[in-house]
Amino acid sequence: PRRFRTLRWLWRLPYLSAIAGVVYIGYGIYQDRHPDPQTDPDPSKKTLVILGTGWGSVSLLKRLDTENYNVIVISPRNYFLFTPLLPSCTTGTIEHRSIMEPVRTILRSKKASVKYYEADASSIDPERKVVRIHDNSDIRGDMAETEVPYDMLVIGVGAENATFGIPGVREHSCFLKEIPDAQLIRKKIMDCVETAAFKDQSPEEIDRLLHMVVVGGGPTGVEFAGELQDFFEEDIKKLIPDISDRFRVTLIEALPNVLPSFSKQLIEYTESTFKEEKIDIRTKTMVKKVTDKTVEAEIVGPDGKKQTQIFPYGLLVWATGNAVRPVVKDLMAHIPAQKDSRRGLAVNEYLVVQGTRDIWAVGDCAVAGYAPTAQVAGQEGNFLARLFNNMAKTEALEENIRELSGSLNLKPGNAAEISREIEDNERQLRRIKDIKPFHYSHQGSLAYIGSDKAVADVSWFNGNFATGGNLTYLFWRSAYLSMCFSTRNRLLVINDWLKSKLFGRDVSRE
Ligand code: FAD
Ligand code: NAI
Repeated sequence: PRRFRTLRWLWRLPYLSAIAGVVYIGYGIYQDRHPDPQTDPDPSKKTLVILGTGWGSVSLLKRLDTENYNVIVISPRNYFLFTPLLPSCTTGTIEHRSIMEPVRTILRSKKASVKYYEADASSIDPERKVVRIHDNSDIRGDMAETEVPYDMLVIGVGAENATFGIPGVREHSCFLKEIPDAQLIRKKIMDCVETAAFKDQSPEEIDRLLHMVVVGGGPTGVEFAGELQDFFEEDIKKLIPDISDRFRVTLIEALPNVLPSFSKQLIEYTESTFKEEKIDIRTKTMVKKVTDKTVEAEIVGPDGKKQTQIFPYGLLVWATGNAVRPVVKDLMAHIPAQKDSRRGLAVNEYLVVQGTRDIWAVGDCAVAGYAPTAQVAGQEGNFLARLFNNMAKTEALEENIRELSGSLNLKPGNAAEISREIEDNERQLRRIKDIKPFHYSHQGSLAYIGSDKAVADVSWFNGNFATGGNLTYLFWRSAYLSMCFSTRNRLLVINDWLKSKLFGRDVSRE
C-alpha cells in the first residue's frame, strides 16, 4: 500500500541525509584543494592593513570581499588558533596542530589575493598612516624591518598575559595563551613526573615536583586544572603507580570564588566537582611573589590579620587574565582621546579607535564594553567585514551615480533610462548606507571542569539557562567541534579525542 511506501522512504531518510552530508563535506574538501584562480589586487583601490591572525582579524578576513581593497595581513603567527581547545593540548588530549589553521590556506580561499607578512607590528604612526613592522622569526633576510603604508587599518593584535609586575612570574611561570605555551606545559608536566620518579629522590622533593599550581581561577585556570587532573587520573596514575598518591593540583584565586563571570549555581557546582576530583581550591589567596620553587601568597587569617603562605611547586601555570600589548600602549600614548583608557583602545559603536581616522580595533585589544572573549572578537570581525563590504559598495554606487548624472546632458535621448538607473542606484545606496552600530549578541559561556563534566551559562530565547555535568560536556564538545575553523580541524579533533580515549594520552616528552 501507498502508506507503507511512504514509510519506507521515511526509513531511508537518515541514510540519504548521511550520504548528502558526506557529499557536501567531500565537495568542500575538493574545493579547498582546488581553489579557483585569484584576481590580483587593483592598485587604484584603498589599502586595508589588518594586524593579527586571531579571532577578530580572521573573522573579518573570512567575510571580507577582498576584491574591494588591497588587503595586507601582518602577524607574527602564520596560523589561526582555536583557543577554546588550547587547554586540551597541554596534556595531549588534543594535538596542537589539530586546532591550527594556516593563514595561507585561509587567504588562498579568497576571491582576490591578499598579501601576508609574517612580522610584528612594532609601532603605528596615525599621522603618516604607516605601520612599522619587524621580522622576529629565527631566519631573517636582509630586510627585517620596514614600513607598510595604509589607507585603512584594523588592529586585532589581542592581548598579552597580565602579571601585575609580581616578582618572579615572568621568569618562572608557564602561561597558557599560545601553542608554544601549551607545548612547554606538556613537556614540563612529564619532566616533573619523570624527575619525581628518579632513583632515591627525597619524599619532600617528590611532593614538590608533583605539586602543580595554577594561579587564576578564571576560565583558563579552571579548564587547565580540570584537564590536568584528568591526565593524572586516566594516564599517569596507571603508568607510574608508585608516585600516584603524591600528585596534587592546587588552584589559587584572589577573589572569594572561581569562575566569577559564571552564575552562582555553576560556581558552586564547579567548586564541589573540584573537591571530588581532589583539586585543592584556595580562594581569597593573592599571590605576591614567585621563586623558582615556591609561590608566596597572602591570605587573611581567622584573626583578620594578613598571613603569608608558601606553596612549593613543580609546575606553575599563571592564568590571571589580559594586559595591553606594547604596540597598542604606544599608539594609545600618542592619542589624547585615549588617555583615560586602561585596558586597551577605546572604540566607538562602529569600532573606530577614538581620536583617530581610518583606524578600527577588534577583539581583546579593543575596549567596546564587552568581555575579552573569542565570541566578542568574532562578532566584531564579522561586523567590520559587513561595514567594509558596504563602504566599498557605497563608493562604487556613488561613483556610478556621478557618472550617470554626468552623462545625462551628453545623451539627452536616453534621459529617461538614465534617470531610472540613477533612482535604482540611489535606492540601493539608501539601503546599504543604513548600517546599524555594532551590537554584541551573547550566546552563552562554556567551560570544561574535568572528569567529563562541563558548565554552561547559555542564553536561550532572551532568558538564561545554567547547567553542568556530563550531558553539558557532550554539548561543550559538539559546540566547540561545530565552531572549529575548518572540516580538517574538525576531523583532526575527533581523531584526537578517539585516540586519547582508546589508547590513552601520549606521555613521551619531546
Ligand atoms: P587573538 O586571538 O589573541 O589574536 C591576536 C593576533 O595578533 C595573533 O595572531 C597574534 O599573533 C597577533 N599579534 C600579536 N602581536 C602582534 C603585533 N605586534 N603585530 C601584529 N600581530 C600581532 N573565549 C571564548 O569566547 N570562549 C572560549 O572558550 C575561550 N577559551 C579560551 C581558552 C584559552 C586558553 C585562552 C587563552 C583564551 C580563551 N578565550 C575564549 C578567549 C579568546 O581566545 C580571546 O578573547 C580571543 O582570542 C581574542 O581574539 P583577538 O583576535 O582579539 O586576539
Ligand atoms: P580572567 O581575567 O577571567 O581570570 C583571572 C583570575 O585571576 C581572576 O579571577 C583574578 O581574580 C585572578 N587573579 C589575578 N591576580 C591574581 C593573583 N595575584 N593571585 C591570585 N589570583 C589572581 O582570566 P582568564 O581565565 O585568563 O580569561 C581571560 C579571558 O578569556 C576572559 O574574558 C575569559 O572569559 C576568556 N576565556 C573564556 C573561556 C571560556 O569561555 N571557556 C576560557 C578561557 C578564557
